[in-house]
Amino acid sequence: MIIEKKAQTSVAIHDLIARRWSPRAFDKSRPVERGQVIALLEAARWAPSCNNDQPWCYLLWDRNRDPASWQKAFECLAEGNQAWVRNAPLLLASVAGGQFAHNAKPNRWGQHDTGAASANLVLQAVALGLAAHQMGGFDADRLREKFAIPAGYTPMAMIAVGYQADADNLEVEVKQRELAPRARKPLGEKFFEGTWGVPAA
Ligand SMILES: Cc1cc2nc3c(=O)[nH]c(=O)nc-3n(C[C@H](O)[C@H](O)[C@H](O)COP(=O)(O)O)c2cc1C
Repeated sequence: MIIEKKAQTSVAIHDLIARRWSPRAFDKSRPVERGQVIALLEAARWAPSCNNDQPWCYLLWDRNRDPASWQKAFECLAEGNQAWVRNAPLLLASVAGGQFAHNAKPNRWGQHDTGAASANLVLQAVALGLAAHQMGGFDADRLREKFAIPAGYTPMAMIAVGYQADADNLEVEVKQRELAPRARKPLGEKFFEGTWGVPAA
């Protein structure tokens, strides 16, 4: 059974946004085509950024092209993530630059903009019929060391991408999480109008 978890919203939102979620069941037998991989990167590339600095960098590992490097990246993940990422054909890591390119001053929006690029990337995945799951559970020092990420760049998230698979093939505990409903705080708890703390209705 391929699970869908469309967002419940008080008014309609774009279908692409409503249908995106973070699944754990991936189809190991279906690679992500090269054109699709490039489309994901293009979507991230065209994200907005402060001063158009484009402070993000991405590393990617395609198991069907370079299984040894994919394995090396996989080993940087926390155990809890490895339990389900093992079937994902494509792994990425988003990395945020900390300085503006044009004047080497600190770019305090670097991480913000890198997150925006990743949001583009995961939505593009949905548009291509793929699923993407971002992860903070990885060893950033290990990733830096194994892949020579330079000083001044901060590994932000790893992202598993692939075709979604039947949730029945997941281990019991992971399956429980896969089947759990998606939840969000009420809109007025996080979105204010005019003054801090005044819920936007
Ligand atoms: C920066 C970031 C780090 C995350 N880290 C993990 C992780 O390590 N493991 C995991 O299973 N999910 C991780 N997630 C997925 C979130 O748990 C998920 O986005 C959240 O529960 C909302 O669910 P949804 O994406 O299905 O709407 C992460 C998401 C983001 C954006």
